[in-house]
Amino acid sequence: MPLPFQHLLSTKQLTRADAEEILRVSEAMETIKNKGGSELLKGKILASLFFEPSTRTRLSFETAMLRLGGEVITTEGVQFSSLYKGETIEDTIRMVSQYADIIAMRHPEQGSAERGAEISKIPLINAGDGPGQHPTQALLDLYTIHKELKGVDDIHITMVGDLLYGRTVHSLSFLLGLFKNVKFTLVSPPELRMPEKVISFYKEKGLQFTEVDNIQDGVDADVVYMTRVQKERFADEKEYDRLKLKYVLNGEMLKGKKAIVMHPLPRIGEIATDVDALPNAKYFLQAANGVPVRMALLAMLLQKA
Ligand code: CP
Repeated sequence: MPLPFQHLLSTKQLTRADAEEILRVSEAMETIKNKGGSELLKGKILASLFFEPSTRTRLSFETAMLRLGGEVITTEGVQFSSLYKGETIEDTIRMVSQYADIIAMRHPEQGSAERGAEISKIPLINAGDGPGQHPTQALLDLYTIHKELKGVDDIHITMVGDLLYGRTVHSLSFLLGLFKNVKFTLVSPPELRMPEKVISFYKEKGLQFTEVDNIQDGVDADVVYMTRVQKERFADEKEYDRLKLKYVLNGEMLKGKKAIVMHPLPRIGEIATDVDALPNAKYFLQAANGVPVRMALLAMLLQKA
């Protein structure tokens, strides 16, 4: 079943059937990856445009394209592209869409992916637009939950940390809202509460959610999803320093708990390293799942899956 859109900009574009098809194709891609890859996208070129720092998203997109026999062209950081000279996103995308077959773009401005997609003649994937959305992260999060919990309906997820600027929790909330009876516990300081656009979505969908201050009130869930306080979104460094490690999850807090622990990474101390060896810890596996999920998305958007 092809995806019913050309560009992937937001998880709000997806239906439950789309999400389930992406899970199914990702499972097939994991098998292909484990066997060394394929030539499915031979002759296709990914333009990997990262105008904001990234390790996992960029490298897993590029790995996904290479594992499918395609090729990659890349520019990294505004300072190494003509955006630095003042070129607009629109002109950059107009040019790049004549060089490549598909674009993955990260940019610090919310709405930048929509602006690029209006111009692009080839599929454009939002790889993170400021505090907006990060749909491919949400899809690999969904894949991880689906594999680890054997389903997504009826789960209880606790989201912890910077819920205001953390785009992954916005995208994941919209995606989980497609499934039945998902319950949210939101743990953040008052300054970093989930934004109104997501709260109104929970209300419209009739989703059960609770906002609390204490991490211990959230650990009796199926998933504890930790996030980093997004230093790059703060105008005042002192305010960032005050909030950055308000919530630290450690091994003691997880004693006797069944919750799987997830994090989009990078972590900067929100998960103590004594959690890494616990069976609850799934964040490195979650990052590894980025490759098969992005293989699936590249193939589906290029109509080759
Ligand atoms: N999760 C994520 O987006 O990580 P990177 O910033 O390293 O791409």
